[in-house]
Amino acid sequence: MPEVLTQTKPAAATSTSGKAMISSARIARRVRRLGRQISDAYADIETPLVLLVILKGATVFAADLLRSLSIPAELEFVRAASYGGGTASSGRVRLAHMVEGTVAARHVLLVEDIVDSGRTAAAVTKRVKDMNPASVRLAALLDRPARRAVNVKIDFRGFTIPDRFVIGYGLDYAGLYRELPDMQGRNPAARALASSCSHTLFFSRACRPV
Ligand code: PRP
Repeated sequence: MPEVLTQTKPAAATSTSGKAMISSARIARRVRRLGRQISDAYADIETPLVLLVILKGATVFAADLLRSLSIPAELEFVRAASYGGGTASSGRVRLAHMVEGTVAARHVLLVEDIVDSGRTAAAVTKRVKDMNPASVRLAALLDRPARRAVNVKIDFRGFTIPDRFVIGYGLDYAGLYRELPDMQGRNPAARALASSCSHTLFFSRACRPV
């Protein structure tokens, strides 16, 4: 059962001055449990599991998840990006880099840090299915159902979170904060603000996280 967060809990923060929405210790416990579930689910497959990591946010989760598995696994990566002008996504997802190895007849597990609208996971799933894999499933550390626009089945879910913008453990704000060991909540308006701020502007007052 995924953990459902109905409110933010303070502290247990480690190296940051912010409040931990999900502490690094809690993340680690959950990821280890997901690793056991995934290992059990794929215990009988005859080829190594293909972990298809969706860049960039899922890299931290994927690194820990991979090391929590007790079955053979390979790593592949895909870069997914929404495009469209201004601060809002057009709702279309462009896949800029696709797997290098073959996934035909292989069992593929997509690894996402967070499922929001579901468009990214849906687009990658569709593309992978076109490659005739043996199966495609989805592991997502975070599920934010309040933002859902596309129906997506999450087979292995870490936490269900409320509608708050989250940074840390791979998730970014204007490209920063991925290195934070825990996850911290921010005002939802920060996401729209982040997409309107270039790195050059990031340290200006208007572009600071709230
Ligand atoms: C984020 C996140 C997911 C995607 C989820 O990626 O890492 O891949 O958005 O959103 P969706 O469910 O609405 O499609 P982002 O575009 O911020 O890129 P990043 O991973 O490089 O930070």
